[in-house]
Amino acid sequence: MGDGPDAAEKSHFLEVCYSFLEYGTDAFYDLGRMQDTIQSLDKDDQAMWKVPPLPWYSEIQRRVQVNLDFLRPGKGPVPAILCPGCGLARLPFDLVRLGYAAQGNEFSYHMLLGTHLILNRSEKAECFNIFPFVLTLANRKGRWDHLRCVKVPDVCPVEALGPAAQLSMAAGEFVEVYKTQESAWDGMATCFFLDTAKNVFLYIRTIAYIIRKGGIWTNLGPLLYHYADVPHEISIELSWEEVRPYICQYFDFVEEEEKVARYTGNAEGLSINRYRCIFFVARRNGKPAEGHSNPVF
Ligand SMILES: C[S@@+](CC[C@H](N)C(=O)[O-])C[C@H]1O[C@@H](n2cnc3c(N)ncnc32)[C@H](O)[C@@H]1O
Repeated sequence: MGDGPDAAEKSHFLEVCYSFLEYGTDAFYDLGRMQDTIQSLDKDDQAMWKVPPLPWYSEIQRRVQVNLDFLRPGKGPVPAILCPGCGLARLPFDLVRLGYAAQGNEFSYHMLLGTHLILNRSEKAECFNIFPFVLTLANRKGRWDHLRCVKVPDVCPVEALGPAAQLSMAAGEFVEVYKTQESAWDGMATCFFLDTAKNVFLYIRTIAYIIRKGGIWTNLGPLLYHYADVPHEISIELSWEEVRPYICQYFDFVEEEEKVARYTGNAEGLSINRYRCIFFVARRNGKPAEGHSNPVF
């Protein structure tokens, strides 16, 4: 950005813009703390307080949503972000909470049914008890660790999203579902998805085809390649050094770094998965998405 008064002015202006954009993140952090505090109150304390905690919380939440709507620039449509391979839809859910319109995409019925339960059937936060580790006896620290209960969801989607929230799911294989949606999306967020490709060229070309010029693609994940060990399946396993130039044909990298991320498993056990993930933010350039791949599904 350079030095001098102009640069300082620009930097200050960007900070101001950023503070508006970050209101949602900050507000949801505060709301989360309030929710934790309410849940930590003993029944006796709640009785002393004489205020029903859930309606109290909902009133605050509704007003935060109004503030968010107010801070969004203008009255135009909010940017539409696609999250392919979204698992239980946490990423599109969080994007909608930040004020975007988001669509999750999944082809696994396990994930789709789980998503339906969490999004549409959770009456409040932590309304379901599950025991994910109960049959896993390896790598325990304590004798009773496998009996640990996990309460889900941590946030109740129906409470967290206002009636105007634009969250949707599309079931089906990513390329099949979106292959005709030219320039239809303002952005794409992929998390642990890129390496689910049998042919990563096909994924990248499809992504380039459906994001409009100037749109943003953000990605986090390793290159584990899901089909690497599946017999009789096509699996093109390229390194990041080989994948990156293909992405560069259609996108200009804005940010790029390695980020360490854990992935599932019992965080309190003796074995945890840690990936050195590729993280990037890239902007779609004007080059048309050309070429063809043989079908892989
Ligand atoms: C490693 S998981 C990541 C899930 C989620 N993004 C997360 O980070 O928790 C990959 C997900 O992509 C889904 N998936 C894999 N290939 C897909 C495809 N071609 N189309 C749609 N979904 C796909 C899988 O069912 C799985 O839920």
